[in-house]
Amino acid sequence: MKTVLVLASLVALALAGNIVIPPKHVDCEVKTVDQDFITKQKQIFKLFYYIGHVDTEAEYYKTGKDYDIEEHVSDYTNKQAVEEFLNLWKVGFLPKNIPFSVFNDRSRQEAVALFHVLYYAKDFDVFYKTASFARVYMNEGQFLYSCYIAVLHRPDLKGIVVPAPYETNPELFTNEDVWYRVHRIKMQNGIDTNDFGPEYGVSHEENRYVVYANYSDNYVYADGEDKISYFTEDIGLNAYYYYFHVFFPFWMESEVQPLLKEHRGEVYYNFYQQLLARYYLERLSSGLGEIPDYSWNHQIEAGYKPFMKYYYNFAQRPSYYQIPYEKHINELQVLNTFEQTFIQFLQQGHFKAFNQDVDLRNSKSVNFVGNFWQGNADLFTKVGPWNHPYSYEVIARHVLSGVTSNSGKYDFVPSSLGFYQTSLRDPAFYQLYSRIMKYFVEFKKSLTPYTQDALHYVGVKINDVKVNKLVTYFDFYDFEVSNGVYFSKEEMKSSRWPYYVVRQPRLNHKPFTVSVDVKSDVEGEAVFKIFLGPKYDGKGYPIDLEENWQNFVELDWFVQKLTKGQNKIERQSTDFFYTKDDSTPIREIVEKYLADGKVPSDMSVKPGAYPHRLLLPKGTSGGFPYWIYVVAYPYQPANKQVETIRVYANDNKPLGYPLDRPVNSVYFKQPNMFFEEVRVYHEGEIYPYEYNVPYYTYHHNEVSQH
Ligand SMILES: *[C@@H]1O[C@H](CO)[C@@H](O)[C@H](O)[C@H]1NC(C)=O
Repeated sequence: MKTVLVLASLVALALAGNIVIPPKHVDCEVKTVDQDFITKQKQIFKLFYYIGHVDTEAEYYKTGKDYDIEEHVSDYTNKQAVEEFLNLWKVGFLPKNIPFSVFNDRSRQEAVALFHVLYYAKDFDVFYKTASFARVYMNEGQFLYSCYIAVLHRPDLKGIVVPAPYETNPELFTNEDVWYRVHRIKMQNGIDTNDFGPEYGVSHEENRYVVYANYSDNYVYADGEDKISYFTEDIGLNAYYYYFHVFFPFWMESEVQPLLKEHRGEVYYNFYQQLLARYYLERLSSGLGEIPDYSWNHQIEAGYKPFMKYYYNFAQRPSYYQIPYEKHINELQVLNTFEQTFIQFLQQGHFKAFNQDVDLRNSKSVNFVGNFWQGNADLFTKVGPWNHPYSYEVIARHVLSGVTSNSGKYDFVPSSLGFYQTSLRDPAFYQLYSRIMKYFVEFKKSLTPYTQDALHYVGVKINDVKVNKLVTYFDFYDFEVSNGVYFSKEEMKSSRWPYYVVRQPRLNHKPFTVSVDVKSDVEGEAVFKIFLGPKYDGKGYPIDLEENWQNFVELDWFVQKLTKGQNKIERQSTDFFYTKDDSTPIREIVEKYLADGKVPSDMSVKPGAYPHRLLLPKGTSGGFPYWIYVVAYPYQPANKQVETIRVYANDNKPLGYPLDRPVNSVYFKQPNMFFEEVRVYHEGEIYPYEYNVPYYTYHHNEVSQH
């Protein structure tokens, strides 16, 4: 009785409205920039903002409206690129107000042509004019796509901050229920009825409207996959994947990134191996077990029915989906041929096609194998420009998406697998890439495992590794979605209009310390790596390292000076190498930092790094067991520092070393290595929706965050 009363009064309280939770304020690390940078930075933000509008008052409009690329051919350093763009432009580009997907051949061709003119513009001024022109006349999504890639690859824009992708295209990061509520507030000019308010997770706080959002539930996901939708729908994780593509687009010629050539395929392998390993850790702690296999010829068990909309509703794939053979006969043939060809080449020990002959028993060939599966521009460099229609990934995404037509030039039914921003939501995504990884493993089986000599670091012994309690929890985060809202001319002019944020509970963890106790007989610089991996498989059986090496996530990499004798190393999780904090909202950058001559340094230096929040899998309230694996080896710097992929370029060892190939577990009992069992505990509510039920909308997470 008492609890009922308490609950009732809480609901009443919530209904009374106006309970304000101040958004958590985090100060980010900043770097100082000069006036010229600030001017460019502001101009670039405005290009990305309110992408659905063409604002005739804006500077870009005045600049771009009458700009004519043809009249300025000499302002581009690559004439051919301009010609290609103009040839396409004369026939007509993808119209505005329809979805753009890079997986549609024609739309991609145009986006690449646009990227080229943006990239080869001889200076910032020409770049800005070209971008303004494209902003005024071209498809919104296509413009944004090419503009992100151009800004992050142009040498003269190094360090410029781009908005987080969930701010520029919020509809690709949120479910439709959010938009119903946002549009209702907008049309009614506020929350003015009793039946629509805190009960539905909407509130008015200061100058913003807040819409609480749940993650997708079991209407969307089958077979319990919704248990980890907080992970697959996490805005930081999806932004991370988008950035991966922006830095390494499969169509990009390596002349834009010459240093990348030797690592491109390797980066591809390492990225997907790490992503899948991380996903597997999350599955384990929610009891979902192994990532299922599938076959092109049989029913695909994992259904996915998103409630999402990007101009049109997203395609939905029912459970036990049978890829319609007659409709996709050509595609299925290509997929099967690709897989069989690869196995044949492996059996012959070398790959011979496209004017190249590659020894598949050489570990460096991982670069080639990555290029092969990605079907990227480097695979075909010896036979001409990238215009190859047979991309395994593009075709596989199409047949798995559940969309059965796509016949016209621009016809395109949006699907989760059709955008980098939404791919990670679909369980079939992980099954597809896990399949590709299995072909990689077949290749890697032909390499010689690291021997005792290769792994042993003479004179260095790790005596002990201690990790303090690993704790995860959910906490609320607000991100602005105003770029998906349509404003009137008056509203656009005034900056005092209310804005819209989505508030979601997201996975986070308390900071922790890894203490490594090392005894050394030598002096020198050593690399330390910290990995997190499964200890038990989905059925609860312990897994031997020989079956488990590809499931380890590399949490950290650092160089440490060793002195003779005892070395006590304390490594804080907040200093881990590969991760970054949340992107700072553009509103805050403009009002708070730029005004002061500063930009957030994370966003400027490593915008594409993995979200720090998601270092640890959720775990369970009783603690879920994993391995922490620490290894030390002598440090030798990489021959070339690959600046654009700063988060990857570290030492001269292969990415992922020493777990980059099948292991002989006998040799993994070296003194310079240590396996320590840890448990990850989850505190607070187990499921994120529990933070979003009506009487909770003013709920503070009681978990102390330190
Ligand atoms: C979130 O889901 C819970 C459980 O289904 C529901 O009670 C709540 O109203 C939802 N909240 C929002 C904001 O959609």
